[in-house]
Amino acid sequence: MPKLFHLVASPRADSESSAGARVFLDRFMQARPGFDIDEMNLWRENLPEFDGEILQAKYARMGGRDFTEGQRAAFAVAERMAVRLDLAERVVISTPMWNFGIPYKLKHWFDIINQPGLTFRFDLARGYLPLLKDRPTLVILASGGDFTTGMSRGRIDLATPYLREALRFMGLQDVRFVAIGPTSGPADHTGAARERAHKRLIELAVQF
Ligand SMILES: Cc1cc2nc3c(=O)[nH]c(=O)nc-3n(C[C@H](O)[C@H](O)[C@H](O)COP(=O)(O)O)c2cc1C
Repeated sequence: MPKLFHLVASPRADSESSAGARVFLDRFMQARPGFDIDEMNLWRENLPEFDGEILQAKYARMGGRDFTEGQRAAFAVAERMAVRLDLAERVVISTPMWNFGIPYKLKHWFDIINQPGLTFRFDLARGYLPLLKDRPTLVILASGGDFTTGMSRGRIDLATPYLREALRFMGLQDVRFVAIGPTSGPADHTGAARERAHKRLIELAVQF
């Protein structure tokens, strides 16, 4: 059964990014009932600290050295997490904007899975080469401010360029972004932003 991998990066029960994902996935599943949804909630998963053996495993790989036993075991966790992403035909990431960027749990996930020989490789002549296959990917980004036309009251959106680059680096280039914002402020503004985003998500779901 083809899989859609949904990475949930908001810890909030009334999360706007998660609500947007639900709207998208409901419509997607109507259009493609054969898909299986694999949801990974980053706040419920046990992500290993990126220090010690797993960190040394990365440096061993980068230096072309064999793993020690401990490094091999630590690296296997990163492998399993990367394979979970790679098994999917479609990817959805729903995330808040936190302090101009992404929540630390989502960055933590990238730090774990983005490994030489796993998601990318380095070639002296050709530089960095992605190892994952490209596939339709959607990022639903909720923010307190409105970044749909650029900056929001003097603040920059660093989440969008970071995610675009981090995904491209691994091989995921077919990435669409749907912004939900402002999610704070007068109810008519937040309501209009939600409605606009949900409409776009429903449109995207049928062609995804
Ligand atoms: C720790 C933290 C940092 C935040 N930083 C920003 C920010 O830099 N820019 C912004 O527009 N909103 C910011 N917000 C507001 C959230 O982006 C907003 O509440 C959004 O709806 C959260 O996504 P969620 O509803 O899916 O949880 C921040 C919220 C928190 C909790």
